[in-house]
Amino acid sequence: MRVVRNVEQLREAMEYMRGGGHGPIGLVPTMGFLHEGHGSLLRRAGEMCGTVVMSIFVNPLQFGPNEDFESYPRDEKRDLELAEREGADIVFIPSVEVMYPTPIRTQVSVTSLTTQLCGASRPGHFDGVTTVVSKLFNMVQPDYAFFGLKDAQQVAVLRQMVSDLNMNVNIIACPIVRESDGLALSSRNVYLSKEERDQALVLSQSLQEARQAFEEGKANTVAEVQQLLVSVISRSPLANIDYAEILTFPGLDSLDADASLMTIDGEIIIALAVKFGKTRLIDNIVFTPK
Ligand code: PAJ
Repeated sequence: MRVVRNVEQLREAMEYMRGGGHGPIGLVPTMGFLHEGHGSLLRRAGEMCGTVVMSIFVNPLQFGPNEDFESYPRDEKRDLELAEREGADIVFIPSVEVMYPTPIRTQVSVTSLTTQLCGASRPGHFDGVTTVVSKLFNMVQPDYAFFGLKDAQQVAVLRQMVSDLNMNVNIIACPIVRESDGLALSSRNVYLSKEERDQALVLSQSLQEARQAFEEGKANTVAEVQQLLVSVISRSPLANIDYAEILTFPGLDSLDADASLMTIDGEIIIALAVKFGKTRLIDNIVFTPK
C-alpha cells in the first residue's frame, strides 16, 4: 500500500497503476476515522477493481460555521492499518493546503436534490461535497467510485452530478453497515455518552417498526407512517428530531401526507436526522412499498 500526500505523488502513483494494466480503478472517498462501514466499501471496491484508491480528507468546505470541522475525530495511524487490512492500494491524504492551495472560486452545485433533508438543515453542505468529490474524480480518474447508502441523499446528489456533467465514472451504492444492535456505524458515534448511545437505538428501531407496520397494514399513508416514526423516536427522552421524512428515492420528491404508500411507484426513502446533545445522527431505509 502506498500513502501519497500531494497531487503530484497521486498522479504519479495513478500513472504507474494504469501502466501496469491492473484493470479498473476504484475510488473510496472518506473523511477518515474509519470503521467497518468504510471497510465494506473498500472490500466491494476490491471485488470490482484491480486498483483501489482511498482518500482521507476532512473537507472544510462541507462543514457549516457552527459544525464540528475542528473537532471531527481523526486517527491517521489506525486509518492506515484498516486501509491496509481491507486491501487499499493507494491512500491519498491531502492537507487542506494541498486540496485548496488558493481560495476556491469554483463550486459544483446540484440543485433541488440538495434543498431537502440534510440540505435543509446544513445549508451549503452538499456544495462542499460535490465540489470536493469532483476534485477527487479529476485527480484519480476512477472507473468506479464507492459510496454508502448511510448517506443516501449524498448518493442521489452525486449520481445527479455525474449524469448532468457527463463524468466518466460509475457510482456504486453500498448497503448500510450496522452494529449488532442496529445502530448505523458512523465516525460521529464516538461523540455519544453511554446514555445517548443506548437511546440512539431509536433511529434504527423506528425505521424497522415503520416498515413493519406498513407491511402488516397497520400504517398505510405517509402521515401514518411518519406519526409512527415520531412516536417511536419520542420514547427516547434525549432525542431531538431534526427531520423524519418519507420521500421518493432517488428523486427525493415529497409525497402527499394522505397518499397511501401502496400507490407509489418505485422506491421510497424513510430518512431521519436526530440530535442527541450536540451529536446529530442520520439513518434511513430505502425500499419499494409493495
Ligand atoms: P464519510 O462520512 O467518512 O463517509 C465515507 C463513505 O463511507 C461515504 O460514502 C459514507 O456513506 C460511507 N459510510 C459511512 N458510514 C457507513 C455505514 N455505516 N455503512 C456503509 N457506508 C458508510 O461521506 C463522506 O465521508 C464525505 O461526505 C465524502 C464523500 C468523503 C466527501 O468529503
